[in-house]
Amino acid sequence: MMPAITARAHTNIALVKYWGKADTEFILPQTSSLSLTLDQFYTDTTVEFDEHLSADEVTLNDQRLSEKASQKVHTFLNLVRQMTAGTSFARVSSTNHVPTAAGLASSASAFAALAGAASKAAGLNLDKPALSRLARRGSGSATRSIYGGFVEWQAGHDDADSYAVPIAEQVDWPLAVVALVLDPHHKKVSSRQGMQSSVTTSPYYAAWRDVVAQDLAAIKPAIRDHNFQVLGEILESNAMRMHALTLSAQPPYTYFNGDTLMAMDAVRELRDQGVPCYYTLDAGPNLKIFCEKPAVPAIKQRFSELFGATNVIVAHPGPGLKFLA
Ligand code: PMV
Repeated sequence: MMPAITARAHTNIALVKYWGKADTEFILPQTSSLSLTLDQFYTDTTVEFDEHLSADEVTLNDQRLSEKASQKVHTFLNLVRQMTAGTSFARVSSTNHVPTAAGLASSASAFAALAGAASKAAGLNLDKPALSRLARRGSGSATRSIYGGFVEWQAGHDDADSYAVPIAEQVDWPLAVVALVLDPHHKKVSSRQGMQSSVTTSPYYAAWRDVVAQDLAAIKPAIRDHNFQVLGEILESNAMRMHALTLSAQPPYTYFNGDTLMAMDAVRELRDQGVPCYYTLDAGPNLKIFCEKPAVPAIKQRFSELFGATNVIVAHPGPGLKFLA
């Protein structure tokens, strides 16, 4: 039996979004993207290959997953078995650390932790680019969670050159991300389905590629110079332009709900009152509000009034993949 290995990976929030695949089997993106890894939300995953098992066994938050629910994990483990010519099945046990039972657990931290634990448990000693490439096969956003801080996933052209690179792993800028839990339920349209319908049916998809190129070019100097206003304006407009691809798909749909729109208005009002803050959101209704630390109390207070204090979670820049003893 091979030793059990535990890895921890944090989730990340994209400031310039990944929304569309060029290759669905290898999960190659249409465009590059850029994110910030967060300290508050992470996944711990232990993997142990055992020749006595007759199938992969997957446990999430102490609950054994059905064969159907664990299919993605099984497919991912097959990749690792192919890399080592191994044949043993594995015991996988994963815990999501999310402050409330909220829709914030993410496939990014899950597949980054699984890539780390499974590859090491299989006897591989992958470097960070190789771990990032492997994580990508589970979920695109996981590509970036191998690193801490600001991270760019460089789209590349094929499996070999599509991986993340760190922009600033140590973030010496007092940034905070206030996450709002507006709806803890699973999303109705998965990011996988959503992005494919945008690529194939939105008439604006070609414009999106240009938006991403411009936003990436402009946001990197803002990160380097700690220019919060430029950073905020880019991340907010980039998110809205990504969501315009859902509204302009056929059939059209949206991840927004009524609370999402109310929260967007409240961010604009706070800005009008002199509190610098900007929002982004992924394939769900929950806003993430970027600010610098001095603005946190005013933001927390306003959103606690609107949605209740337990639905307002403050996160900060977080670290990359770690192996736990
Ligand atoms: O890789 P997925 O399936 O988790 O898709 C991520 C899509 C967004 O979260 C909306 C954008 C992003 O870059 O993380």
